[in-house]
Amino acid sequence: RLPLVILISGRGSNLQAILEQSRSGQLPVEIRAVISNRPQAQGLERAQRAGIETRVLDHRQYPNREAFDLALMKVIDRYAPELVVLAGFMRILTAEFVRHYQGRLMNIHPSLLPNFPGLDTHRRALQAGKREHGASVHFVTNKVDGGPIILQARVPIYPGDTPDTLAARVLEEEHRIYPEAIRAFAEGKIRLEEERVHWIKD
Ligand code: GAR
Repeated sequence: RLPLVILISGRGSNLQAILEQSRSGQLPVEIRAVISNRPQAQGLERAQRAGIETRVLDHRQYPNREAFDLALMKVIDRYAPELVVLAGFMRILTAEFVRHYQGRLMNIHPSLLPNFPGLDTHRRALQAGKREHGASVHFVTNKVDGGPIILQARVPIYPGDTPDTLAARVLEEEHRIYPEAIRAFAEGKIRLEEERVHWIKD
């Protein structure tokens, strides 16, 4: 089982999807810890209910981004994860952090990257008049929301959609593709090679 550490900031529904697949034996991972930068994150309770160790590192208690990321790296490394999973972790990470976990740091983003990096993706997709939207799982590199894409899922945009109805449609796909990408990594089917995702055929 691939040892994981999962970083969250909020609701934790992607965490929940990973957790459930791990519990049912569909995903060969061992979630060693869930770490949140927000003490009130709902995902912490989900982890605790599943008997997973949780940690809070409140970024507001650190003088700057560098200090926070260094502290975070120290805590993460105590669990010796082979993959660090960002699941709604709403902090930009320093170059040093990203370099340290190069090739073993994954993120999910609620858009069809390279479209709509950053925040508020659903509203922006609607405003742009798009007919399609989605989610992307990618390796994290120094370009924010710009790392090599592992998997994407597309959803249609319907007339009358609001940011909320669209977000719900995308989220369902997130819960499907994030465990799938992690499974591919755990089974040794993908790796990051010179800024590209290399798929190994079986
Ligand atoms: C998800 O939609 C995820 O794609 C997004 O935050 C949400 C977290 O939901 N992540 C980002 O926007 C990263 N820039 P969750 O806490 O219920 O998994």
